[in-house]
Amino acid sequence: MWEKVEIVMEEKVNNSEFIPVSKPLLNGNEKKYLKMCIDSGWISSEGPFVKEFEYEFSKRIGRKYGIAVSSGTAALDTAVKAVKLKKNDEIILPTFTIISCAAAIVRTGATPVLVDCDPLTFNMDAKQVERKITKRTKAIMVVHIYGLPVDVDPILDLARKYDLIIIEDAAEMHGQKYKNKECGSFGDISVFSFYPNKVITTGEGGMVLTDDKRLFEECKKIRNLYFDKERRYIHEDIGWNFRMSNIQAAVGLAQLEQIDKFVLRKKRIGKLYTELLKNFNSLQLPVSKTDYSENVYWVYPVVLKEGLGFDATEAMRRLLNKNIGTRHFFWPMHLQPVFQKMGLFKNEIYPVSEKISKFGFYIPCGLAITDDQIERVVKVIKKELK
Ligand SMILES: Cc1ncc(COP(=O)(O)O)c(C=O)c1O
Repeated sequence: MWEKVEIVMEEKVNNSEFIPVSKPLLNGNEKKYLKMCIDSGWISSEGPFVKEFEYEFSKRIGRKYGIAVSSGTAALDTAVKAVKLKKNDEIILPTFTIISCAAAIVRTGATPVLVDCDPLTFNMDAKQVERKITKRTKAIMVVHIYGLPVDVDPILDLARKYDLIIIEDAAEMHGQKYKNKECGSFGDISVFSFYPNKVITTGEGGMVLTDDKRLFEECKKIRNLYFDKERRYIHEDIGWNFRMSNIQAAVGLAQLEQIDKFVLRKKRIGKLYTELLKNFNSLQLPVSKTDYSENVYWVYPVVLKEGLGFDATEAMRRLLNKNIGTRHFFWPMHLQPVFQKMGLFKNEIYPVSEKISKFGFYIPCGLAITDDQIERVVKVIKKELK
């Protein structure tokens, strides 16, 4: 039996010493736009903020079409279904990512094929991808990880050479550019997440982006139970209810108005951590830039160096004891019990992903964190992780 819970919404965090791993900033037009939803009664996906958010976000990324959905995971499911893979088709993706990527592939009946990642940027690369291409390969899922993008050009070359579809997961990459072009603009179909740890949030939410009118129409149907346009309750395929509500889009629009300020703040948080931690020997710090991008520090990921005698779980426990919130790195797809039970990825080994997932975690870096809190996090890290 459920017990009645007391709803406590006030700021617990400021009253205590605890520094959460991520806390969003909601101090733009969010309240104003939410009040407009409530005052007008427009709270469902039919409300005008949804189209406005789709229009403004896709314009920002430089895409023709945006389809707002209920999460980044829903965006991946929509995208993978829309490109119409068949059973036995293979999609190449990194093992070091969130399960949403592989799950979307498995749910369509296609086969996920994994590659390892780079130990410094945590991203997949084209050389590893090419080795995994077979006659059955139909798509590459490019997933940008933790703040630096994948080196996209060589992967786009592979897509042209082997006639492959690119599904781009830019869930974490708001405001990031690859060679001065927005992440999310490279895939035949691309996705974002607006979970509250993302640079801009809708509470829960996501978006699919494309320049292809046919994919756009397909995604709209998939998002909305595959209702027929003319005969509403007739269905030619199975879709989902992945619709984003007007309430979520209202928050999203207000957040989008502040995206440049948010990205600057994220970069400042990352640079400050690097400055304060650069002489501390226990941690591998994130790469500040590559020859194609500067880090936007969506999160501040650190990897424990060898020989310390403890792993990420222990490091995180020590920090939590001192009121510092952290998150584990992703756990690789080839080690996931659910996929092993399905007989997938048997005996596959990806040493880099296995190592970083054991020794990597990220530290508080939400937009609401203050410079004083960052200094406190660093002080505790230096004391606890020697
Ligand atoms: C790379 C990546 N893809 C997809 C998702 C899924 O997004 P959501 O949590 O909105 O479902 C995430 C979530 O953080 C992610 O990091």
